[in-house]
Amino acid sequence: MLTIALPKGRIADETLDIFQKAFNEEFIFEDRKLILEKSGFRFLSVRNQDVPTYVQYGSADLGVVGLDVLEEKEYDLVKLLDLHIGKCKVAIGLMANDEIDWSKSEIKVATKHEKIAKRYFEQKAMAVEIIKLYGSIELAPIVGLSDCIVDIVETGSTMKQNGLKVGETIMESSAHLIANKNSYYLKKQAILKLKNEMQKYI
Ligand code: PRP
Repeated sequence: MLTIALPKGRIADETLDIFQKAFNEEFIFEDRKLILEKSGFRFLSVRNQDVPTYVQYGSADLGVVGLDVLEEKEYDLVKLLDLHIGKCKVAIGLMANDEIDWSKSEIKVATKHEKIAKRYFEQKAMAVEIIKLYGSIELAPIVGLSDCIVDIVETGSTMKQNGLKVGETIMESSAHLIANKNSYYLKKQAILKLKNEMQKYI
């Protein structure tokens, strides 16, 4: 049995689609259920940011999670495969008529991605105050909470609809299959078999 943590929402649906094609069976979570067990797989439905936690502690052998989430913390995991789904980028967002003022002594940045944002500005030798938010990041520069934001951009329409423009890209992201290190050692054959099977359908 392999236990696989999936991030609730579209990435879980698209991953289960890959399983459906690979194993010719339907994999669907029932209503509010958080566990789906079928054909030797046990899927866990968890929050996006929690996927690496389940995998690192070994409660799940495998997980599917965006690179942006992996970049935010240091996890001790095996990165197995880029699934080429959930493609997006982490980028700067600014008011449409604004530019970053690099001459400022410190810049205020609102974001959910604290580490990624901090690293980006530090590399540019810019002092930064990170304002941690949990969502609706696009609001921050509009109401003067921050000078700019660092956020996920997929189509760019959330920023656009809120009068922001997409600035420099900090990183490209997509969903990756990850493995717990012990599981990878103990269940290597099953895991590699699954990886190869999935690879055919991505
Ligand atoms: C992300 C991000 C933006 C939006 C960007 O939020 O925070 O708000 O998607 O997508 P777009 O470029 O296609 O408009 P998400 O929907 O992942 O929800 P979250 O706030 O829970 O992260």
